[in-house]
Amino acid sequence: METELLEQPGLKKDLTTRTIYIESYGCAMNFADSEVVATILGEKGYSHTPSEEDADIILINTCSIRENAEQKIRHRLNHLRSNKKRNHKLIIGILGCMAERLKKNLLEEEKLVDLVAGPDSYRDLPKLLAEVEDGQKSINVLLSLEETYAEINPTRLNSNGVTAFVSIMRGCDNMCSFCVVPFTRGRERSRDAMSIVEEVRQLATLGYKEVTLLGQNVDSYLWFGGGPKKEFSKLTVEEQVNSINFAKLLGMVAEVDEKMRIRFSTSHPKDITDEVLYTMIRYPNICNYIHLPAQSGSTRILDLMNRNYTREWYLNKVERIRELIPECGISCDIISGFCSETEEEHQETLSLMEICEFDFSYMYNYSERPGTLAARKLKDDIPLEVKSRRLQEIIALQNRVSKQKNASRVGSVVRVLTESVSKKSNEEFKGRSDDNITVIFPADGVQPGDYVDVLIERSTTTSLIGKVINKTDKP
Ligand code: SAH
Ligand code: SF4
Ligand code: F3S
Repeated sequence: METELLEQPGLKKDLTTRTIYIESYGCAMNFADSEVVATILGEKGYSHTPSEEDADIILINTCSIRENAEQKIRHRLNHLRSNKKRNHKLIIGILGCMAERLKKNLLEEEKLVDLVAGPDSYRDLPKLLAEVEDGQKSINVLLSLEETYAEINPTRLNSNGVTAFVSIMRGCDNMCSFCVVPFTRGRERSRDAMSIVEEVRQLATLGYKEVTLLGQNVDSYLWFGGGPKKEFSKLTVEEQVNSINFAKLLGMVAEVDEKMRIRFSTSHPKDITDEVLYTMIRYPNICNYIHLPAQSGSTRILDLMNRNYTREWYLNKVERIRELIPECGISCDIISGFCSETEEEHQETLSLMEICEFDFSYMYNYSERPGTLAARKLKDDIPLEVKSRRLQEIIALQNRVSKQKNASRVGSVVRVLTESVSKKSNEEFKGRSDDNITVIFPADGVQPGDYVDVLIERSTTTSLIGKVINKTDKP
């Protein structure tokens, strides 16, 4: 019926009957953006479907952070070729970082792609889709100095109804030499603090129990009325008086609902301040957990990476966190085999990890990204076997530390926010401790969203397992 209508010449195509399926890759920011996209298209009458088979339009929100992230998406696109063969009307669009990096090349290389939209052009999606419906290929990859989608209330996709991401800023100005993000996401800009608090308030009303404030470098959040990032010292006196930094924002968000847990990611070691740590102490509902990527334990490599801190600075930050918040969980990101890294410098990374005893880490082989400072100025000269061997040593060390730390908690009681059924069994729930360790326990008498005290009976490298001994309403 619908197709007949569409095929009658002269009849305006009814976009409102279209269903979209959105698939997201990469970091939490991409997942949060997909929820903004769902709202923008929802307002134009498109409906979201969780099933790829039911979709008229498939949008893939992509990541470029490492070469293998892009390869995964290319495989996925190849797979979609067969869907397109079955359904010639199927529209396939690429969003996100790979769209921004490859621009119109994506339309040319991947012939099945109909639409390419970069991270700052999602408001344009209805127009772009209309162009595709008219038989054109469409593209918008303009980056913006101001776009934060501030007033758009994201449509929660694949939500557990308990935890949600809230984007507080976009882009990144740091120019770490290995990193593609400044090129794919543009200049750093902060979102209107009021709109952030309002979004958190709505989530609380809907029964959500945890929000994670998202940005590539949350500690440099600064709201002073809008526009591209400025240093505090460069603001006018009036702007300074009215400005809101990250610590202040964190406090405002924590005040919304004392029963709601607040998390944030990512913190940059050069920017996290005592003011943020004291705010964490002041509000019991701000979780004692900091993701603090070191990338390397060698000052020479950190300098080549353009991270703007030294090994000593990083170690001092960790010491300061432990001094002020002894129970704080700390996790890390490490890159193995960056340009010219020597065996001794790799050992410095291992020793930094040994000293800091991270609860867990994300660990990667260095992957050269076209256009980055490192790709232009430095040689990717560490052979893959060497990178991978060093990475194995990094992973083995982290696994040993995680296993020991988790084992030391057997016999203790951990406060957990119940999230959803565990991967392995419907009879078990999983949730996280305040310091962000996964905890698994029998589902009996517990609902997602409940705070429970779990007596830890066993542990693995990645999780704690136990039984519920108490229900409470406190985070
Ligand atoms: N803004 C965050 C990181 C975002 S990217 C921060 O500054 O810490 C997430 C992680 O991917 C980085 O911390 C880094 O460890 C890794 N990464 C980024 N670019 C990479 C590359 N070219 N090769 C390997 N890992 C990379
Ligand atoms: Fe990339 Fe560095 Fe920005 Fe993180 S802070 S997104 S690693 S440039
Ligand atoms: Fe990937 Fe873009 Fe995030 S490159 S890690 S999706 S900002």
